[in-house]
Amino acid sequence: MTIREILIHPDDRLRTIAQPVTFPLSDATRQIITDMADTMYDAPGVGLAAPQIGVSLQIAVTDTLWRSDEVRHDPDRPGGTRDLKVWLNPEFLWHSDGQETWEEGCLSVPETYGDVTRPAAVRLRWHDVEGKPHEHDFEGFDAVALQHEFDHLNGKLFIDYLSPLKRNMITKKMKKLFK
Ligand code: NI
Repeated sequence: MTIREILIHPDDRLRTIAQPVTFPLSDATRQIITDMADTMYDAPGVGLAAPQIGVSLQIAVTDTLWRSDEVRHDPDRPGGTRDLKVWLNPEFLWHSDGQETWEEGCLSVPETYGDVTRPAAVRLRWHDVEGKPHEHDFEGFDAVALQHEFDHLNGKLFIDYLSPLKRNMITKKMKKLFK
């Protein structure tokens, strides 16, 4: 099991635009995906995007079931309760006009939360690890988590949606705590 270092804001590598992966996946890319899952569960978090470990590829992993405290704090972490998803080269085909506000946090902005308003529902196209394309609609927490993760692939963080004043305060706090 390989736990990778998670980059903390502000770091220029969190602001780069990730490149699409090519199929068939190389062994190196498969290893990155495995490491990302290990790193996400170890953190623990409900999602992780490749730029957060300094890899500029369009890869994200999520486990929105992991959000449940009951599951996360289970010392046995039974495999059956996990719901690991791997998203490659994701793109949104549609956003709903209706919006919802959720409190978001991020492994790259530790111990910090903020209200973010986003489209309540999305239609997503992505590829699985075999290179097969998929399309599906998402709403609720899944829609929030996916929009948050795929923002990372475009060099964007949830704090970018907050006021400049609040964002500057958070950046100062991160520099103080983690530099
Ligand atoms: Ni994040």
